[in-house]
Amino acid sequence: MSHAPAPASEGAGAERLPGPQHVAIIMDGNGRWAKARGLPRAAGHERGVEALRRTVEAAPELGIRYLTVFSFSTENWRRPAAEVSALFGLLKAYVQRDLGRLKKEGVRIRVIGRREGLPADIADLVDKAERETEENSDFFLNIAFNYGGREEIVRAASRLAEAVQRGDLSLEAIDERAFEGFLDTIDIPDPDLLIRTSGEYRLSNFLLWQAAYSELVFTDVLWPDFDKSALQQAITDFQSRERRFGAVPSGAR
Ligand code: FPP
Repeated sequence: MSHAPAPASEGAGAERLPGPQHVAIIMDGNGRWAKARGLPRAAGHERGVEALRRTVEAAPELGIRYLTVFSFSTENWRRPAAEVSALFGLLKAYVQRDLGRLKKEGVRIRVIGRREGLPADIADLVDKAERETEENSDFFLNIAFNYGGREEIVRAASRLAEAVQRGDLSLEAIDERAFEGFLDTIDIPDPDLLIRTSGEYRLSNFLLWQAAYSELVFTDVLWPDFDKSALQQAITDFQSRERRFGAVPSGAR
């Protein structure tokens, strides 16, 4: 990780910074995890789903309310057809297997990204997961699937233009807040912390608008090995940062 963790015991009067409310994760390294074991890449993705289950369970225990995970990008279509189909199969199996439990546990599921272009069975399943959990509000799981940050922004701009054309929105009313209302993440606060696993240091077109002020934590852990302690470590790292949102450091005023 790029910063030393905060000391475990702090001096008298030291304030513990609040943990992140919204954590976004680029789940990277499934392929390398599999290769290191002589397994097919799809096996790494399968273990990646296990890591996702662990993380969804650990997140609320660590005070997180919103979790957004990057599962399939608009660029991932360039992968071999068999791998693309394995990733679609895993999303399907994950929703089919976990929806009932997540629903009971008060989790609201949202799938962000381009819905057009998804096979009909996946699109129907995603609609069902969102519909059946829309009353839940204990924890918010956002799955970015067929997602690209630029594509999302262009789609939002197009919807905004339509609203102007219909006369529902005036040109003067366009500001950042109004624009956000056309993004897939409407009503979801921006991520406080964005984690990328596997030692890569890129955003890869993930949440380009929403991550404007997110703290970034990069860890060498490969996604299939990610667990509660890795998440706790990222939170500790986050808590050692001073978030300024463009202002001067506190104490310098
Ligand atoms: C990056 O690893 C990971 C992905 C492209 C997919 C992430 C998917 C999962 C964790 C499992 C699927 C979960 C759902 C809910 C569908 P990589 O393949 O790029 O790894 P590499 O960089 O080591 O090759």
